[in-house]
Amino acid sequence: MNRARLAGVIGGAFSLLLLWGCSDSGEPAAAAQQQSLSQAEELYRKNCKVCHAQGINGAPIVGNQKMWGPRAAQGVDVLVEHAVNGFGLMPPRGGSALTDEEIRKVVEYYLSQLQ
Ligand code: HEC
Repeated sequence: MNRARLAGVIGGAFSLLLLWGCSDSGEPAAAAQQQSLSQAEELYRKNCKVCHAQGINGAPIVGNQKMWGPRAAQGVDVLVEHAVNGFGLMPPRGGSALTDEEIRKVVEYYLSQLQ
């Protein structure tokens, strides 16, 4: 992974966030989805970011298509199961006390950062 591409990926994720912030569509579904994503982002920041922002121990970095591609291909259910039970060097629930439902929200947030 070269730096320029990494910067592009981060920049892309950032402009997506900006787009969300600026969206003033009155559609309730979009607003609800936006809210649940920002809750998920909050859960991520408190419980998962310490490893997943930097790639500690090989943790796939959020928004990094190359790192997530083959993992994402397993499907959301498998990813949630791995996150809940632990996987390789990833401790069960990342060592947090999050519920299965909250873990799922964070995993969905991860996947939403890849488009
Ligand atoms: C202590 C560091 C650490 C924390 C905290 C952590 N992770 Fe991880 N995570 C890892 C590592 C390391 C891997 C890669 C494991 C491997 O492939 O061997 C990983 C992999 C994953 C995967 C991919 C599993 C797969 O099937 O490829 C998911 C999903 C995941 N973490 C979700 C989370 C969530 C959600 C949280 C917060 C609740 C979290 N992680 C917190 C270290 C961490």
